[in-house]
Amino acid sequence: MFTGMHNRGYYLRPDRPLLFSRPPVPAVIHVQGLIFVAPAALIDGKARAAQLSVSITESAAELFETHGIRPGLAVVIVGDDPASKVYVRNKQQTAETCGFHSVQHALAADSSQESVLALLTELNADPAIHGILVQLPLPDHLDEQLITQSVAPEKDVDGFHFQNIGKLTAGQTEGAFVPCTPAGCMLMIEDQLGKDLSGLNAVIIGRSNIVGKPLASLLLKANATVTITHSRTSDLPAVCRNADILVAAVGRPNMVKGEWIKPGAIVIDVGINRIQVSEGGKIKTKLTGDVDFEEVSKVAGAITPVPGGVGPMTIAMLMANTVASAKRAANISD
Ligand code: GUN
Repeated sequence: MFTGMHNRGYYLRPDRPLLFSRPPVPAVIHVQGLIFVAPAALIDGKARAAQLSVSITESAAELFETHGIRPGLAVVIVGDDPASKVYVRNKQQTAETCGFHSVQHALAADSSQESVLALLTELNADPAIHGILVQLPLPDHLDEQLITQSVAPEKDVDGFHFQNIGKLTAGQTEGAFVPCTPAGCMLMIEDQLGKDLSGLNAVIIGRSNIVGKPLASLLLKANATVTITHSRTSDLPAVCRNADILVAAVGRPNMVKGEWIKPGAIVIDVGINRIQVSEGGKIKTKLTGDVDFEEVSKVAGAITPVPGGVGPMTIAMLMANTVASAKRAANISD
């Protein structure tokens, strides 16, 4: 149960000692034995991604002017999943804005495994393409693992190929592609806390190959003490209360509550859930994260919104990986 009381815009938390050896951004004020925690700072992923896009666009222009190379990104989508179509369109539009050569292959939902693999063979061999992304999830009849492992590792800007996963797990991020969502999360965490997370506890909710596991590797490399939790974890709220950095990547709308949060913690919400809400007697669809923003923002030190947090950062990191791939293909150092 949340026991805080409002007090001139601050949250009074006499019941919770602050365990930070190094508090992050929020103002934490001690007055006569009481602890006041300012409402969370908003981590604006949209603005940060826009800033990154500017430097990616400059890098792409320079690559073209000095070497005649235009970074090329191919996005493959199979089927008609509405959310996937939106994500793919955003990726393609951003690639165009950054001045990339951008192609989209939209295949029918009933496409055969052979036809998808044949397309990947073509793209792997195409010198104008430096990055290949197959949007997930794929229709059930397709073998997701076989398809993601058929993207050439040197064009695997999603970082899903076992060769890239292996390098990341071994802590060798140089020359490897890091999956875009964890890379974006990490940048936002570093913006708040710096590159060295020594002494800080990071808790990740969700053990997916796309987010949870690779993010754990990145956080470990930055010296955080990392816990990955999942549906079989006992007393999840208690584990989360120990987190200086909490990342929710579970796909359950508003699951993480205010009372799960250590005051001043950094909260990164990876969830993008579509829920139905009633507004003025009408049912509308709304995007919401895995974190109950209203509750958690009163306790956390900093928090990402949904939308406008992790989503735009994922796309920016995809662009960064594609430029890096184009440079690597031409043996140009960063
Ligand atoms: N579906 C949801 N997230 C991702 C992602 O990061 N990459 C791909 N390819 N598909 C996704």
